[in-house]
Amino acid sequence: MYQVLYRKWRPKKFADVVGQPQVTVTLKNELTSGRIAHAYLFTGSRGTGKTTCAKILAKAVNCLSLRDGDPCGECAICKGIDRGSVMDIVEIDAASNNGVDNIRQLREEANFTPAETKYRVYIIDEVHMLSVGAFNALLKTLEEPPEHVIFILATTEVHKLPATILSRCQRFDFRRIPPDDIARRLTFIAEQEGASLSGDAALLIARLSDGALRDALSLLDQCFGCGKDVTVETVRKTAGLAGTEYLASLAGAVLSHDPQKALEITDGLYGSSKDMARLSEEFSSYLRSLMLIKTMKNAREIITVTDDEYMLLEKQALSAPLETILHGMDTMRSALEKMHRGGNRRIEFETAVIKLCLPELDTSPQALLRRIEALEKRAAAPHFAKTPEKSAAGSAQSAIPQGNLPAGTNETVSAEGKDPSGTAAEAHGARRTPEELAAGAAKLAEWPEVVQALKSYSPSIAAAFNGSSAYVNGDYVLIDAPNELAFRLLREPRQRDNMRNAVRTVTGMETCRLGPYRPGTAQSEKDPLEKLAEDAVKEGIKVITDKSGEPPEN
Ligand SMILES: Nc1ncnc2c1ncn2[C@@H]1O[C@H](COP(=O)(O)OP(=O)(O)OP(=O)(O)O)[C@@H](O)[C@H]1O
Ligand SMILES: [Mg+2]
Ligand SMILES: [Zn+2]
Repeated sequence: MYQVLYRKWRPKKFADVVGQPQVTVTLKNELTSGRIAHAYLFTGSRGTGKTTCAKILAKAVNCLSLRDGDPCGECAICKGIDRGSVMDIVEIDAASNNGVDNIRQLREEANFTPAETKYRVYIIDEVHMLSVGAFNALLKTLEEPPEHVIFILATTEVHKLPATILSRCQRFDFRRIPPDDIARRLTFIAEQEGASLSGDAALLIARLSDGALRDALSLLDQCFGCGKDVTVETVRKTAGLAGTEYLASLAGAVLSHDPQKALEITDGLYGSSKDMARLSEEFSSYLRSLMLIKTMKNAREIITVTDDEYMLLEKQALSAPLETILHGMDTMRSALEKMHRGGNRRIEFETAVIKLCLPELDTSPQALLRRIEALEKRAAAPHFAKTPEKSAAGSAQSAIPQGNLPAGTNETVSAEGKDPSGTAAEAHGARRTPEELAAGAAKLAEWPEVVQALKSYSPSIAAAFNGSSAYVNGDYVLIDAPNELAFRLLREPRQRDNMRNAVRTVTGMETCRLGPYRPGTAQSEKDPLEKLAEDAVKEGIKVITDKSGEPPEN
């Protein structure tokens, strides 16, 4: 008989439980040192190992030859529990036995010493389902549990438990399991099952399962239904991740204000019997992806699409203003509400799409605000760009002193070999240090888009700017990149041109000078005490400082 994967691969020892070290390590320590509580509470999201760990713990407290806190799996007790023949391990599903009588019966039974084992263990799953009366009855037992009884309560909804119960249990919180841990476990299990599972496919399943290993294993099981060679494609098909081309075209039509096209696409989808409510949801979640890309550094980890689809999404996110995206999500949400209230689905969807394509139709205060904002942005951009010296000095490259950068990184060291400080003095009347420039700089919010735009000139260069940010001070764009390679690349005049073009495309700044963002390096970052001491030494005063900040021993 076929046993589903998640049952077949339920871990039998703590060592096989993944992603919950805060639980397993602690329990193992308690078991090895014999500090065993009488009531445990396992909480946390679905499919993360609560029932699994409860079963392991029940075995471990009774195992005849505990190994490093794990049940041996070989002694008579371990084997008996595995077979289900040990009556002293009682699993109760509180969802179906939630009455006060069930708990009273349990209390009476608990008074008898166990037949075969050291401890009688009650695993009460879904404990939040108990009735008020049942909780009170349970409380009495928890207040004075017999020596030979251990309770393990498990629930996903800890907020439904009375405080009186909570305070009597040792509580363990099970976390959503990180995708890497899930992927590793899936790979291991696939191997054991003699199947092949590509690394990408394992990660995709992991991302789709939202931290629940049970869900991940169920999906893997379904994938095996198509064969033992599981690829990203298999996972996508099985999980019903339809191609997103039509969503991309719809978003394209909206962003380019093309109602004709948007309605054609809608019509085509309607004709192929696409449900319009489902379409609204899908379009909403497509817009959400655009929003995430625009606002988060690690959006890639959250959005479950192939790399190709992601590239398309990124491109679209670049050209879409955030306000438009958010407005789109709002509009879709209210269209959905109207559909649920009985509105004609097709008409509601079409109306929503037209509204999105033609924002000028919308006269709500929010819409007017959006339009004013857009105008303001447009008005601000050129002003931002105009700098007096730009025509005079041609491709004005002026001075940001080197600071602690690799030589030749910033605009000072332009290929023309001008005297950089001379240029700077001309332009600003005084030489400005990177620290001074950084101090007056404001964060350039559009920087992620600049890096995006840079991709169209050179994807590999753009990659060096992953995780970077930038600040603007006058016509300086000061870059803060974690990767020194970024600065090395910017030594090449051609790359600097590309970067400036990207900045222009996105921000409208006609020219800009590139430099490193170095807020208060060297001197100012020093401990003020240390600096004081240094100054004092310079002046020939001898000082003793205690840098540790600890009070002296006594
Ligand atoms: N942390 C984990 N390590 C290894 N396998 C796990 C883990 N969590 C879940 N699994 C797998 O998922 C299955 C279900 O896990 P389990 O029943 O312990 O989840 P649960 O937290 O009790 O979920 P629920 O809240 O739905 O009852 C297990 O049989 C096992 O195959
Ligand atoms: Mg469970
Ligand atoms: Zn054992």
